Amino acid sequence: MTTQTQDTSLLESLEKERRKFPPPPEFKKKALVKSKAVYKEADSDYEAFWAKYAETELHWFKKWDKALEWNAPWAKWFVGGQINISYNCVDRHTTTWRRTKAAIVWEGEPGDSRTFTYQDLHREVQLFANALKDLGVQKGDRVTLYTGMVPELPIAMLACARIGAVHSVVFGGFTVEALRDRINDSQAKVVITQDGGWRRGSIVPLKQFADQAVQGCPTVEKVVVVRRAGEKAPVTMQAGRDFWWHELTAKASPVCPAEPLDSEHPLYILYTSGTTGKPKGILHTTGGYLLGAHMTAKWVFDIKDEDYYWCTADIGWVTGHSYIVYGPLSNGATSVMYEGAPDFPEKDRFWAIVEKYRVNTCYTSPTFIRTCMKWGKEYPNRRDLSSLRLLGTVGEPINPEAWIWYNETIGKGRCPIVDTWWQTETGSILITPLPGAVTTKPGSATIPFPGIAAEIVDEQGKPVPPNTGGYLVVSRPWPSMLRSIWGDPDRYVKQYWSRFPGRYFTGDGARRDKDGYFWITGRVDDVVKVAGHRLSNIEIESALVAHPAVAEAATVGRDDAVKGQAIAAFVVLKSGNNPSEPLKQQLKQWIGQKIGPIARPDDIFFSADLPKTRSAKIMRRLLRDIAEGRVLGDTTTLSDPKVMEDIRQSYIAEGKEEA
Ligand code: WTA
Repeated sequence: MTTQTQDTSLLESLEKERRKFPPPPEFKKKALVKSKAVYKEADSDYEAFWAKYAETELHWFKKWDKALEWNAPWAKWFVGGQINISYNCVDRHTTTWRRTKAAIVWEGEPGDSRTFTYQDLHREVQLFANALKDLGVQKGDRVTLYTGMVPELPIAMLACARIGAVHSVVFGGFTVEALRDRINDSQAKVVITQDGGWRRGSIVPLKQFADQAVQGCPTVEKVVVVRRAGEKAPVTMQAGRDFWWHELTAKASPVCPAEPLDSEHPLYILYTSGTTGKPKGILHTTGGYLLGAHMTAKWVFDIKDEDYYWCTADIGWVTGHSYIVYGPLSNGATSVMYEGAPDFPEKDRFWAIVEKYRVNTCYTSPTFIRTCMKWGKEYPNRRDLSSLRLLGTVGEPINPEAWIWYNETIGKGRCPIVDTWWQTETGSILITPLPGAVTTKPGSATIPFPGIAAEIVDEQGKPVPPNTGGYLVVSRPWPSMLRSIWGDPDRYVKQYWSRFPGRYFTGDGARRDKDGYFWITGRVDDVVKVAGHRLSNIEIESALVAHPAVAEAATVGRDDAVKGQAIAAFVVLKSGNNPSEPLKQQLKQWIGQKIGPIARPDDIFFSADLPKTRSAKIMRRLLRDIAEGRVLGDTTTLSDPKVMEDIRQSYIAEGKEEA
């Protein structure tokens, strides 16, 4: 298989990996799932399997008539059922002893903290749901949430879900244009933002970004502002449009019953990068999504009532949606939420949080683990990590070295590691060990969750033999699958269901070993994962060519020892502009402003031309060879093979080492 973005050094280290880690006996003894019997049960009738747990694990106002209606690629789960996710995550716990249990334990970057019991959450969610209604928000309306990691964010999500409004969370690290595009695509009526957000001791002016974005958003009627930074982030409130959160909730009525919603009622839109310049709005609906998030949270994280569970992701990404908010809260768990950076005020901040709250489960990214390896053991070693019993990773492949380090330095060899593979589109974890039942292998996400049918196929869609690379596909519908792309059903069909008809194409390359374990090697399309953040080459290229000095641009994800991948940009300047260091800096800044700091290229090379095929397609594969210092691949399909030699020469002239 030729893949455009496979990490070759990662592939080599995965090939060599042979170690196995069975569930530690102490862990297994108390685990919710101790044997593989659930896999057999699920495989024998996956619809009946999901239906059983939908019935026993979730609260329905009205039971469904049919578990699944599948007109490929259109799925309806729990047809005719009525449910509310806010009720499942909040109300149902307030009628049990969990009423006074901590639901969200929040730690602010400056060191302040807040705890919300389920009863507190119930009150806050109802108040804000009524505030939304007072602003004219109705069932089906879209609400964009653009804040930092403050408790008001999950409260607002649950409030939207309560009244049937569709939330669209935009990561607080995006800036004006990315926000504007997302608001406009979803045609949001209300935007919820924050005065300013803490990041490494300074303030990100979220409200100012939102003001600039909303100027180009004709559908936005109201803006709600959460006060967090206070006088550190002065804001201008536009009369009639802008309202303070605390003022709205102070006068809102305290009772707002959860609306019974159709199981397929849209719950949220979350934008993610794909293979075109325009981000796509992934649409998730209510009943099936909740079941996926609930069951995976329960079994993968082996959630116990006494646990402090912490997912370090940002709620702006899908991981935060499913595993800070919906999955844990539906299970009545205590979910820890942290506002700021992992190295503020010092590089032991995450471990200080584990120590402070006696966190039992920690779910984080391989990039963070590799960063910790670089920082050194002294930071975790300063802290008492004895409360930890389970560790997880997500978002990108984890190299075996990082897995072993995590296991030894953080887990002290005592905690199983769940390497969980999934996507914004899948809604919940699809490939993962169940920590009390499945032996793990460093670098492998192991096997599909019960009920999930994953396969690896070749170009023609034929399953490949063990240890052969291919494309990862899912061959049966699952409850938390995306239902469509917001406003673009054709793209949904084309993007996910056309390459291998009848099967969902993930965009990832993988192989399976003879034990049936999956080894994910990375994206095979133009999506890059930089520090676990999902970005699109084409989106960054479009932003680059919007700069007045740039004629053409091509970006590639190149290997990076810490971030997994980094962005290298090849830029052709318009005549009259000269390559220079200040211009490079200017272009990096430009991307930071247009998309957000996470999309800033690490390297920029100026070149006279770009390698294109005779049909004018940019050959990113060759540019990757250069960016990773490899010998050039096949250039015979280029319209002008000399272009590559020129680029390589200028690359060397810039002092970059060749491998
Ligand atoms: C990658 C994040 C290897 C993969 C939840 C996927 C992983 C993309 C893993 C989705 C893993 C996620 N091992 N690769 N455990 N988890 N990925 O939509 O390339 O931000 O397609 O969802 O992340 O990224 P997204």
